[in-house]
Amino acid sequence: MKTTTFIALLACAFPALADRVAMPAKTPASYTAECSSCHIAYQPSLLSAKDWRIIMDSLDKHFGTDTTVDRKIGLEIKTFLERHGGDPRHIGRTANPPRISESMHFVRHHHDVPSKFWRDPRVKSAANCEACHREAAKGIYSESDIAIPELRE
Ligand code: HEC
Ligand code: HEC
Repeated sequence: MKTTTFIALLACAFPALADRVAMPAKTPASYTAECSSCHIAYQPSLLSAKDWRIIMDSLDKHFGTDTTVDRKIGLEIKTFLERHGGDPRHIGRTANPPRISESMHFVRHHHDVPSKFWRDPRVKSAANCEACHREAAKGIYSESDIAIPELRE
């Protein structure tokens, strides 16, 4: 294949990749079991290893709830999340405690969303990815899958 053709193909492939956030192939069952009952099991690359460590070290005070898990399971989940954490330079500053929905990466992708939608009864919270991204649990964040018609333009 000629280099120019290859570069052209790459350019076509990237926009498609941008709206997918992959779940690692070897996701332990414990992660989905323990971390997807109140919200989706967030894809680990959405926060950095350091952010995940802070979250996993403070499950007793998890955003107003106690979500402590068995020690061994907790260690398994923490190891998994840290290993697959995203590049901190890409994610940017988060918050304290860390939130995907307050990361610079998130803000960059959502600055066009009018603020009233974050308080919309269909959404309730920016952490509620599935309210807008129907297939968020599968890592699909493309525009065509946005659940709220007014946001699909
Ligand atoms: C009993 C319910 C519950 C369980 C179980 C739970 N969480 Fe949460 N989590 C919450 C609540 C409540 C919030 C805050 C949501 C909001 O602000 O709307 C939250 C928020 C988060 C956020 C920040 C979301 C954002 O970007 O604003 C992360 C990351 C997170 N949880 C990770 C985890 C992990 C990892 C586990 C498993 C160890 C877990 N959660 C298990 C209730 C839970
Ligand atoms: C109020 C609705 C809403 C909520 C809640 C929401 N998003 Fe979005 N998100 C959008 C819209 C609208 C876009 C822009 C879609 C587009 O134009 O491609 C977007 C874009 C994105 C993109 C970029 C997709 C691309 O095309 O490159 C990612 C990644 C993303 N969101 C992740 C998340 C995550 C993770 C959460 C939860 C922590 C979340 N979103 C919560 C509405 C929302």
